[in-house]
Amino acid sequence: MTNTEIEQFRAETKGTAERIHFNNAGSSLPPDVVIDTVIKYLQEEAVFGGYETEVKYSKQLDNVYALIAQLINADANEIAIVESASMGWWIAFNGVGLQKGDVIITCEMEYVTNILGFLHAKKELGVEVKIIPNDAGGNFCLQALEDAITPQTKLFAFTHIGSTAGNVMPAAEIGKIARKHNILYLLDACQSIGHLPVDIKEIGCDMLAVTGRKYLRAPRGTGFLYVRKEVQDSLKLMFMDGFSAPKVTNSDYVTRSDARRFELYERSRATTLGLGKAIEYLLNIGIEKIWQRVQYLAGIMRKQLAAIDGVQVHDIGDQKCGIVTFSVNGVNSYIVKNKLAEKSINVSVGKAHSTLFYMEKHNLASVVRASVHYYNTEHEIQVLCEVLKNIY
Ligand SMILES: Cc1ncc(COP(=O)(O)O)c(C=O)c1O
Repeated sequence: MTNTEIEQFRAETKGTAERIHFNNAGSSLPPDVVIDTVIKYLQEEAVFGGYETEVKYSKQLDNVYALIAQLINADANEIAIVESASMGWWIAFNGVGLQKGDVIITCEMEYVTNILGFLHAKKELGVEVKIIPNDAGGNFCLQALEDAITPQTKLFAFTHIGSTAGNVMPAAEIGKIARKHNILYLLDACQSIGHLPVDIKEIGCDMLAVTGRKYLRAPRGTGFLYVRKEVQDSLKLMFMDGFSAPKVTNSDYVTRSDARRFELYERSRATTLGLGKAIEYLLNIGIEKIWQRVQYLAGIMRKQLAAIDGVQVHDIGDQKCGIVTFSVNGVNSYIVKNKLAEKSINVSVGKAHSTLFYMEKHNLASVVRASVHYYNTEHEIQVLCEVLKNIY
């Protein structure tokens, strides 16, 4: 990515002139064109009517499914648009129809939503959950996964990038094992989409849950669920309305034949268009280029943080990403966050419960999370480090 391109991306993102935004793993700054798209649509709804505006934009709204499909190398009929990754994850997870004695295999990077899903399935259904821990170097052991499989293994539920850790899980290698043993594979790609290349055919997952507001730079309240065509009919529906089941008689109903059966009729058309615009923006840049830049910036940040007295960087694992986690000796993570906020620098605090298995294993009550995106700069990293040097 050239300096000219970076300057252009920053000029197209109002927020970069206001703050140093290192909370991309929370919610990225959207490009101006995304916000303009949403506002324009809402204004038209207010003047012409919601249903009438939808008719006018029906092609563009439909095209959002095609853009998502292009982004992850799927078919448009394998995509449902939902409000969040958690919503997508629950639709898929509940749809599997787990029963007493079934076993889920997962990893230590799971997000709190997913952990709650496992606990619920354990309590309500008598399902067993096996967690494959990462090794001391922070890497996932594929052999341990193979060894854990039994005839009772019904589901692999993995998280590609954890909420409060800087490593990437080997999603495609896990997918190969899932395919070999014919086990359903649900991947939480909430932090990885827009961050690094995610190709569902390469990964081999059956279901993928995603949010829009993080590395995709889409508006809040957007997300999507991918469900492989061959799996759609076997997933139970959590809810239905006249959109997901358009044929209804007194005694029966027929659902839609595509993944949009997992949606309900009502949601924001404006933010859906914004999601599409964010994906278009990303596709124009190219995800490989984004991933290279994110790794480069995160590498610099880790190096500079580690050189500061009293700062401890926590990220381990061979493949690291744009999420950088650290703590400052003797200073509570919330105080670090607040001190940085005073200097117009946004970071977040990664709480223990967000990635409970990992955080407990490493005795971390919280971490400071500074997550970079391609529009961040080396200078912004320097400014962050200067503030931290003078934090005591
Ligand atoms: C790894 C991971 N999975 C899932 C989620 C949940 O995303 P959402 O808030 O869109 O439901 C998050 C949110 O931070 C996350 O970091």
